[in-house]
Amino acid sequence: DWTMAAFRQQAVEAIRKQVGDARVICGLSGGVDSSVAAVLIHEAIGEQLTCIFVDHGLLRLNEAEEVVEVFRHHYNIPLVHRNAKDLFLGKLAGVEDPERKRKIIGGTFIDVFEEEAAKIGGADFLAQGTLYPDVIESVSFTGGPSVTIKSHHNVGGLPERMDMQLVEPLRELFKDEVRDLGRELGLPERLVGRHPFPGPGLAIRIPGAVTSEQADILRKADAVYLDAIRKAGLYDAIWQAFAVLLPVKTVGVMGDARSYDYVCALRAVTSTDGMTAESYPFDHEFLAGAATRIINEVRGINRVVYDVTSKPPGTIEWE
Ligand code: XMP
Repeated sequence: DWTMAAFRQQAVEAIRKQVGDARVICGLSGGVDSSVAAVLIHEAIGEQLTCIFVDHGLLRLNEAEEVVEVFRHHYNIPLVHRNAKDLFLGKLAGVEDPERKRKIIGGTFIDVFEEEAAKIGGADFLAQGTLYPDVIESVSFTGGPSVTIKSHHNVGGLPERMDMQLVEPLRELFKDEVRDLGRELGLPERLVGRHPFPGPGLAIRIPGAVTSEQADILRKADAVYLDAIRKAGLYDAIWQAFAVLLPVKTVGVMGDARSYDYVCALRAVTSTDGMTAESYPFDHEFLAGAATRIINEVRGINRVVYDVTSKPPGTIEWE
């Protein structure tokens, strides 16, 4: 793509000019935006960049391994991988309120990030994969209510506390352009085309208090659901699809025994920017097949329901 090749070249020059020979750190989340930003910055300044991946233990199945594989082994980008699962789950124990959960995760994320940044001697610049819609949404909520519905933590937070200058090479791009740029940079399609994933991860897909056991069940159910979607050839037609684990147990029958397990809700939406969304109209046959697979393959779930709510009045995530 001619446009993206030109953008890449200009962005590389702009990053070199801004940073000079200073050191840059970049927080990786496993998502498309921070990954593309990191690879672009690495192309511009090589080993002056170190990536820090704070793994809060609430990621999708195999996500942490994939991040380490792509960055450390494929691109050879210096990467600090901090497994902080116990710390995050410990702080979240018993916390039910969605906004408190977000604040705990956001605050703990910054603490751990700062700790790891200090260990490698700090840096003058902090790189972020901020996109144009993030810039807009953090200024005003166009056409929407003037109250905060959910406090997203990918804008703000880190920079204020860390007193570093920002490198944000994706600030003028929309999501589909970032995906094109990622392809231009040779990132694997699986990573580039991946559905958006919220910073607080699975914590906001388990309504109320979160346990490690529930996170493990949800991670498996989500992987089975997404596998069914990929196999049906529907992944790219959907903006976001994921499983939610309801903190509700119901009675079922497995073989000739009674079961008493969690309910799993499936969500899939179409959207262009996440601001409004429609529930994806799956065939009943697809849904019934996915439900059967989840119940057979994931211990701890014996009932599956599908969420048909639009945004508004619903939101995409359940918290
Ligand atoms: P909602 O649930 O508000 O989600 O309709 C809109 C989009 O934002 C994502 N989302 C988040 N992203 N931190 C994030 O980084 C958050 O706390 C958060 N909450 C929701 C959601 O996945 C969807 O893409």
